[in-house]
Amino acid sequence: MTYIVNEKCVNCRFTDCVEVCPVDCFYIGENTIVIHPDECIDCGVCEPECPADAIVPDTEMNDELQYWLDFNTKYSTGPDAWPNITESIDPLPDADEWNGKEGKKDLVSTEPGPEE
Ligand code: SF4
Ligand code: F3S
Repeated sequence: MTYIVNEKCVNCRFTDCVEVCPVDCFYIGENTIVIHPDECIDCGVCEPECPADAIVPDTEMNDELQYWLDFNTKYSTGPDAWPNITESIDPLPDADEWNGKEGKKDLVSTEPGPEE
C-alpha cells in the first residue's frame, strides 16, 4: 500500500506534508508534489497535515485514484523523476484561491519543481 497525492494539490503545493515524512519520499513538480509509492511506509502522518486534503491512502482504489497512483509513480521513479524535497517551501502564489477548486487535473504540470 501507499499514500497518494491527488489533484487537490495542483496549484496549491503547500508542502506541509514534506516536513513530517519520516522517510523523505516526496518529489516536487512545477505545480504539485508526488509520493514515491515504494518508499512510502504508510505511516499516514502526512495525510492530516495537508491544508488541501490532497493526500489519500490507496485502500479504496477507483479509476481516478489509479490515475494519480500512476502519476505519483511516474514522477517519483525512473527517468522522469522530479527532485526530492525534504523541507517545506512557500506555497504557490495563488494557493489559497486554488484550494478546493474542482477540475485541476488538466492543469497539472509534468515539469520538475525546484531543487533543494
Ligand atoms: Fe511519508 Fe508516511 Fe506520508 Fe508515506 S504516509 S508519504 S511515509 S508521511
Ligand atoms: Fe500538496 Fe498538500 Fe503536500 S497541497 S504539497 S499534498 S501539503
